[in-house]
Amino acid sequence: MRERRSGADKRVEDRGRPDGDRRQGVERRRAQRRSGLDRRDETAWRPVSIDLASATPLDDAALVAAAVEARERAHARFSNFKVGAALETDTGDVVTGCNVENATYGLTMCAERVALYKALSDGKNVFTRIAVVADTDDPTPPCGSCRQLLWEYCGDIEVILANLSSVKKRLRLSALLPLPFDARLLD
Ligand code: THU
Repeated sequence: MRERRSGADKRVEDRGRPDGDRRQGVERRRAQRRSGLDRRDETAWRPVSIDLASATPLDDAALVAAAVEARERAHARFSNFKVGAALETDTGDVVTGCNVENATYGLTMCAERVALYKALSDGKNVFTRIAVVADTDDPTPPCGSCRQLLWEYCGDIEVILANLSSVKKRLRLSALLPLPFDARLLD
């Protein structure tokens, strides 16, 4: 059974404290930081290894195929670098995305974030895996912005990197973003 994570909300410890307590908590954290006694759980930042033997190739194939199909719809006339992504939800739904470029270049949106934003706006917010497909021999990993957004909304999901013919790499998001800035630091 795959672990279900729901992103930052599940990773952040919910202390359910009333407002007065919350203020005290903030002050205590500040004091800890000043004194170097920050008690955040550092293990949360360690890359997690995946048991490759437990991978399910059939599942992979379906998810990767969805990303391959989405890639065909990429709007990549400026870079000619088409990317497709397929994000799997905890209920087994698959939400796809492709990169969408534009003439100002900077407003380009990556395939991974298109998939994520589509899913979130549809009310889906628990995710298990994402497949990213590009037509490259080496695996094409998500860019830094996508890593940050995926971490915040998906947690430590599995990332499957594939090209048009095969899976090139599988890893956990924490291996791609080992020391993340996230909501825990705003506590
Ligand atoms: N791109 C993605 O869509 N996802 C990635 O993981 C890497 C890069 C897009 C952005 C841009 O449209 C093109 O690839 C070249 O950077």
